[in-house]
Amino acid sequence: MACNSLNVYGMDACLGLEDVDYCDFSPSVRKTKCIKSAIEPREVANMPLTALGKILESTCSGGNKVSIIKSSAQQDIDAFIENTIRSKSLQDAFYVLNLAVIVQLFYDWVAALPRVRPYYAVKCNPSPPLLSTMAALGAGFDCASKSELEQVISMGVSPQRIIFANPCKMPSHIKHASSVGVNLTTYDCEHEVTKIKLNNPNAKLLLRLRADDLSSKWPLGVKYGALTSEVEHLLMAAANAQVDVVGVSFHIGSGASDARSYLDAIAAARKVFEKALALGLPAMHILDIGGGFTVGNNGELKLSEAANAINAALDQYFPEELGVSIIAEPGRYFAEAPTTLATMVYGKRVRDEVREYWINDGIYGTMNCLIHDYAVLCPRPLARISKRNNTSCAGLPVYKSTVFGPTCDSLDTVLKEHPLPDLVDGDWIVFPNMGAYTHCAGSSFNGYDTSAIQTFCVFSLNTRGPSTVAIDSLFKSFETPCEFTDKLSFSEESTSEDSE
Ligand SMILES: Cc1ncc(COP(=O)(O)O)c(C=O)c1O
Repeated sequence: MACNSLNVYGMDACLGLEDVDYCDFSPSVRKTKCIKSAIEPREVANMPLTALGKILESTCSGGNKVSIIKSSAQQDIDAFIENTIRSKSLQDAFYVLNLAVIVQLFYDWVAALPRVRPYYAVKCNPSPPLLSTMAALGAGFDCASKSELEQVISMGVSPQRIIFANPCKMPSHIKHASSVGVNLTTYDCEHEVTKIKLNNPNAKLLLRLRADDLSSKWPLGVKYGALTSEVEHLLMAAANAQVDVVGVSFHIGSGASDARSYLDAIAAARKVFEKALALGLPAMHILDIGGGFTVGNNGELKLSEAANAINAALDQYFPEELGVSIIAEPGRYFAEAPTTLATMVYGKRVRDEVREYWINDGIYGTMNCLIHDYAVLCPRPLARISKRNNTSCAGLPVYKSTVFGPTCDSLDTVLKEHPLPDLVDGDWIVFPNMGAYTHCAGSSFNGYDTSAIQTFCVFSLNTRGPSTVAIDSLFKSFETPCEFTDKLSFSEESTSEDSE
């Protein structure tokens, strides 16, 4: 049965080949194209096929092709990039999205936070294959606007799997949410209650509390979240308007670094649950612990560290017997690591000691994250023209290099005095971990349209975790029923059911 999922894409043809570098799955041709090199057919055969088939199927149904590559190691990603540039004669910047990394992160999430169901924050990276992979894995979605709702609903995700987690919404967006059956939303002021009541009579609210990790990359508390002193008034405002408040949400800040903030916020949320009961209001049953999670690439809080604090706080303040459903709204954690950006060098100037290069993406495109997200870039060369036999430039001398983006603004400087080998036009520079708050916030300044940057999907074998575990079991991880998720089933049929 497992093999059937993949036979749809012609995997059987691939299994007969010896030297496979990568295999392309294309839903349109329903045929696998395998290109030479080193994947053992055996490795493909040992994959958790049902789950993989599901992910490929949902991704491919959006018209994407998924290439199987040997591993998520730099050299295998770079080999794929090189192959793609060569076979498609590419000159424009592009992304490589490794779906296996998303699966691995999901697996790690389930292991670290078994009680917390992730509702992926679409704003962080709304790339269709990323969303469809999250949907296939059983995640819910946090949407912030009408168009995000439209995108997720159009993928066939059930409205019960979506939270409209923007505390201050446009009336027309609330109406739209109502029309597609997305009723769970957040609020933090009385004015929003009135607006919601007027535009969606079926709405169910989470009261968003202010909770700050002041050391996070972007603390959000200045803009959002009710103060403790406002809680009673806001609970009563909703009760008077006859809108149900079914739980509490918070967001300690994106790119969090202080685990204690989760603990404090969970403790504060419990007080709100108690306050509601003391006011004679119905018992709340959803706690939404927001985002802030990272893989810790840049010294932020690792998921495991956050999880230790969260699990302890949940045990103390929301023990399982309370029957409260716990959800979260992770964005960065799932989006950052799976995406690699490849850019081409198309200009060079040598001034004194410094080499200056022009590449075809920059501050007004993907690298807007340097300004908006305080990102740290980790470039590596792919010298496919100047060093054909050593494209990674291993062991070669490096020089102070400045790298400019393509627009005519001098602010469009991506790297300053960064050590890089000597490169020429037609060499490429590759940037890993470029999936969070990058593409989605780029512009089309000077006619360099960020939204036109292509994404190529890969699925790497030998990715830690899920490849050795029956990842099908992930689909069963979040079966606890709750009012807004009880239509969900994480059995084999869940995706097709949702898409009905
Ligand atoms: C309401 C809300 N939820 C979730 C997120 C995602 O946060 P993160 O990427 O830190 O997980 C954000 C980010 O701004 C947010 O505002």
